[in-house]
Amino acid sequence: MLQDKVVVVTGAGGGIGRDFALAFAAHGAKVVVNDLGTSVAGEGASAGPAQKVVDEIKATGGEAVASTDSVADWEAAHRIVKTAIDTFGRIDCVVNNAGILRDRFFFNMSVEEWRAVIDVHLNGSFYVSRAAAPYFKSQNSGCYVHMTSTSGLIGNLGQANYSAAKLGIAGLSKSIALDMAKYKVRSNCIAPFAWSRMIGSIPTETPEQQARVEKMKLMETAKIAPLAVYLASDAAQEISGQIFAVRANELFLMSQSRPIRSVHRAGGWTPQDIAEHGMPALRQSFFPLDRTQDVFTWDPL
Ligand code: NAI
Repeated sequence: MLQDKVVVVTGAGGGIGRDFALAFAAHGAKVVVNDLGTSVAGEGASAGPAQKVVDEIKATGGEAVASTDSVADWEAAHRIVKTAIDTFGRIDCVVNNAGILRDRFFFNMSVEEWRAVIDVHLNGSFYVSRAAAPYFKSQNSGCYVHMTSTSGLIGNLGQANYSAAKLGIAGLSKSIALDMAKYKVRSNCIAPFAWSRMIGSIPTETPEQQARVEKMKLMETAKIAPLAVYLASDAAQEISGQIFAVRANELFLMSQSRPIRSVHRAGGWTPQDIAEHGMPALRQSFFPLDRTQDVFTWDPL
């Protein structure tokens, strides 16, 4: 589905991104395998993971090149895109997948933990996307696939930095979709559920925890790739500004914020009126303070 297209996948040295790179190559794309080779917390760097995936692709007859620049730096992000141009002569798709975690309850979160996560996810997605934009604009084609998360779209404990970054990415994607529609450039998000090292640190001390983790292992990282390949292909040329989720064999279209209820008072509102009339009417439609697992209450299929 992607014969001769050139795709940049960030964070493609492991987890979901590695499966993206392998699937894109298997469908005929030439792949820039970008990965800093860092820890889940974003500490340290290694050229090994990106090169290993390139070797895997080449061993099956595919075309790929390694890039070990960080997405979290404006100049380095431009080098990632330039690797595609210098090696393969063009760029057709950017997959913003690189990510780290620095989980901490909000009241304890340091400014370093906040900045590190915003830098990789939100700033990194902007930097790499923006670096590719002039090429997409001049060739009148191109596409972006960004990884968001239900931690941002719904909610999670101890992830203020990550949730804010991931919801920010949903806004970034919609803005790119609007701003670049006239150049036939598309932008969509995927919220994945997958058993990777990122969620692999969940404790397995009790039988209940072990059973939960066994079910989570059903959410294979390779199950996310078919949707990304499809979104990058010409078969998806009408699809832009959407947010999808993937969990094992389930695909979801996620909602986007719209007004769901309104109240009106001809003479305007006082705080007292809001307390007595406005809020009681709106309250029926309030959202509970729920987390992803309160919404996705059934096991992965
Ligand atoms: P992972 O930790 O296995 O892979 C992330 C990769 O990004 C690593 O190989 C790492 O070296 C690379 N990376 C980190 N910082 C980088 C930087 N500055 N520049 C370039 N590469 C960098 O994690 P996983 O699970 O495969 O996550 C992939 C994406 O999916 C992330 O954006 C994550 O937030 C998102 N996601 C994953 C979920 C899951 O259930 N695994 C749930 C929701 C979202």
